[in-house]
Amino acid sequence: MAASCDSKLSCRREHVDELLDRLSTQFLEMVPIRKMKWKDEETAVLVATAQLQQRVLQATVLHPVCRLHPPALSYRTTFMKQLVHKLEQLGAEVCDEVYETYTDLLMQREDEEDMLCYKNYTLPWGEKVSLQESVNLVSQGTTGLSTWQAAQHLAEWVLENPDILREKQVVELGCGLGLTGVVVCRACSIQSYTFTDCHAQVLFLLAKNIERNLALPCADNRLASGAENGCARERKMMRKIKRQLSLTSDKTDGAAASASDRISNHDVGDTEVEVMTSPTKSITTDLEEKPEEDEDVSVSEDIGNVAGVRLEVSAAHWDLDETGQIATLRADPSIRICYLNWEQCQDRVAEQLEADVILGADVVYDPSIIPSLVCLLRQLLEPGPGKPNKKAFIASTVRNEDTRDAFLIALSSEGLSYSVVEGPQEVYFHYERMVPIEILEITAP
Ligand SMILES: C[S@@+](CC[C@H](N)C(=O)[O-])C[C@H]1O[C@@H](n2cnc3c(N)ncnc32)[C@H](O)[C@@H]1O
Repeated sequence: MAASCDSKLSCRREHVDELLDRLSTQFLEMVPIRKMKWKDEETAVLVATAQLQQRVLQATVLHPVCRLHPPALSYRTTFMKQLVHKLEQLGAEVCDEVYETYTDLLMQREDEEDMLCYKNYTLPWGEKVSLQESVNLVSQGTTGLSTWQAAQHLAEWVLENPDILREKQVVELGCGLGLTGVVVCRACSIQSYTFTDCHAQVLFLLAKNIERNLALPCADNRLASGAENGCARERKMMRKIKRQLSLTSDKTDGAAASASDRISNHDVGDTEVEVMTSPTKSITTDLEEKPEEDEDVSVSEDIGNVAGVRLEVSAAHWDLDETGQIATLRADPSIRICYLNWEQCQDRVAEQLEADVILGADVVYDPSIIPSLVCLLRQLLEPGPGKPNKKAFIASTVRNEDTRDAFLIALSSEGLSYSVVEGPQEVYFHYERMVPIEILEITAP
């Protein structure tokens, strides 16, 4: 009898732990509140006592990761509102800590700081990848300031197929804020990883994300050293990005929506945002946005002018090459960031980027840019000495069959072969899976 009671108790404990864990990973990853897998019967289990309610807080808004790398303020507030609502609906007695925490959040003023937030992705072994991202899917005219589903999908696939990348030189195109690459660097035994993108602000935040996740030893050290704040120049740059994001945030629904290239309907927090962009338009957007008078750091370079682009990276963490376009991580010189615009890359760039494997997530969405992308793929896939079997794996959310077909036709006309690979079997990240995501393996004959 006692044994059965004990096992019931431990089953219940395990169940509660599992529910809390699921809630926690979704919250830290900033899964839109109304899409959270959070059933009423589960809530009833979790909020039955004041102690359990406190554990819900500890797993979410008071979680140590949330304190260090918080999701957006509006997101945390909406979560607490929903929690209180659920508790009241269930007729549970709401404990003081819940009200206090909610009130504290309500009293915080949303400002420029809140244009950037942290999304914390949980790896299968429990560690987090904490990325600083824009709260809006399209900001500063680029799609690169937030992580897209295809990046999460490709990262999941990599987690299940680490051998494909073992001891390889990997180059990622249009890497955005770096989720796929950080996961590869943490999970696979690679020879080197080169993150590439063409947008100045994306590259700046990418560098910070890499430092946070691949260069710094542990959370406590980060806090102690103040490493997240960087030097004065970086702080200025960060302020400028936040200010620009806050100035342009209203345009996400307006100006961005008037751009011609439609991507998708996506969820940001609790609002549906029609996401449209062409990254090439980001050049125009950046140029059109006047720099602040009091700032001397140019964060919106003319990225159309290759010679003028210099990566803005912390001298404490990165070594810049003489062109200013390739930065090597000091803590791990196998990791590099490279400015690379598919529309302007000459053979020289492709030669410098020695790759066994090329990765790309959500880089096929703008028909006008497909020819340059495919041309670069062909250059990078060209067999080299000792490198006969180069491969590219490109993950795309198939929102528009015509765009996908245009990509496949362009691949064939460049003489490249392709096949669809089997996607990941397990769910590690909490992204929207309604629209199909396809991973193509591409090879040169
Ligand atoms: C939809 S985002 C995907 C970002 C990231 N791979 C992900 O899935 O989260 C497209 C990325 O491609 C980059 N990009 C677009 N056009 C580019 C070009 N011509 N050259 C280099 N990168 C480009 C953008 O800056 C952006 O980071």
